Amino acid sequence: MLSVSVSTCVMRSKVVARMSSKLLRTAISHHFSTTSLHFSAASFRRAFSTRMTVVPKSTDLLDTPSAYTQKSNKTHKSIDLRSDTVTVPSMEMRKAMAEAIVGDDVYGEDLTTSRLEQRCAELFGKEAGLFVVSGTMGNLLAIMAHCKRGEEIIVGRYNHIHRWEQGNYAQLAGISATTLEVKPDGTMDLDDIEEAIRVKGGYVEKMREESDDSEVTSIPDCHMPATKLICIENTHNYTGGKALPVEWMEGVKRLAQRRNLQVHMDGARIYNAAIASNITVKQIASYADTVQMCFSKGLGAPIGSIIVGPKDFIERARHVRKAMGGGWRQSGVIAAAAHVSLDHAEATIRADHERAKKLAKMINEATPDALRKKVYAKEEDITNMVLLHCENGVTVQQMNDHLQKHDILAMTFDAKRIRMVLNWNVCDENLDTIVNVYKKFVESL
Ligand SMILES: Cc1ncc(COP(=O)(O)O)c(C=O)c1O
Repeated sequence: MLSVSVSTCVMRSKVVARMSSKLLRTAISHHFSTTSLHFSAASFRRAFSTRMTVVPKSTDLLDTPSAYTQKSNKTHKSIDLRSDTVTVPSMEMRKAMAEAIVGDDVYGEDLTTSRLEQRCAELFGKEAGLFVVSGTMGNLLAIMAHCKRGEEIIVGRYNHIHRWEQGNYAQLAGISATTLEVKPDGTMDLDDIEEAIRVKGGYVEKMREESDDSEVTSIPDCHMPATKLICIENTHNYTGGKALPVEWMEGVKRLAQRRNLQVHMDGARIYNAAIASNITVKQIASYADTVQMCFSKGLGAPIGSIIVGPKDFIERARHVRKAMGGGWRQSGVIAAAAHVSLDHAEATIRADHERAKKLAKMINEATPDALRKKVYAKEEDITNMVLLHCENGVTVQQMNDHLQKHDILAMTFDAKRIRMVLNWNVCDENLDTIVNVYKKFVESL
């Protein structure tokens, strides 16, 4: 009996020791990264790109089980590239969580949370912020704070808000959507947006009174909901983590102002967009009235998102959050980790982008010429995601099974693409392992 419990104990302590040293290594690589940080207001390199990244037809998508429900056999040896949500909190985060000053946030008494909300409001150049449990909740609260039951949003059909949040705006809030085609760069056609705007009876009279703009010509019609909100996503997940062109966001903002609409940015990965566009998050946020950002993606915190916007908007969102069961108590324990993630945000994201570029290049270099039309990684406009295309007889299932067998976890994104997301638990050494496993696959074809 005794020997069993002793050996169990030894085994446990070995596992703990292994986990601790792994955590320590990842914590060190996270927090002592010496990558230099430089945001300049210099040139916007992405002017209405017409490069063809194929956004699959909806028929391709129908055959694919939801990417987010695929099961994996994760082990302690796995290199996990399924998402940037899979990271574990660093030692620094854990320490901050343990030491956080907390209180009941529903009473407005959790200092760590209030400071986070204020810090983010300043960071994004908005009046106020609200800490919420997830990106999905942040987007939903934002939509509900902008629109009343019976009103409408305009959103890309491949945007996360529409495609991966269960149509919650309709399901829970009685808000409808006009969904528009999304271009390979994550944008929607401005003319399509304009055309989709529907203005209910009373609004038109009001707008005509207030504006001598002859373009305000929508016909009053009691059949229609009133469009209130345009939702954009930056970076755009489904197009491979593309940063939206700044000129396009300017166009959306102008259009929204002219048509008396609001703009909400699903900026789950807004830091990735800022780094890729070489501007600050504040500048990116300036193209939207409200923004949602996730701490639990590339920034590496375990839980939480922030929404920012005007004070009255945040008050409405706070009110709805309580009804959704999202009013939390000593949330400072979690907000503390979010603070740490912000302290290191730029370095963390910049390192992910560099590794993603490197990985895509290494994959293409390892692909024999004869196979280049069958398997290739997109190298243009990469942020933290590498899209591995499998075509012309090579299937994503073949590729992903091979990767899984060798403890590399990636996501089958759709019928032709595997998504590999760099995150701060992946190091340079891992890139070599991934490419060696990939080489074995192409050699077997
Ligand atoms: C662009 C985008 N928005 C929102 C979300 C939702 O975030 P959460 O998983 O925290 O609900 C995700 C999650 O992957 C996302 O990629």
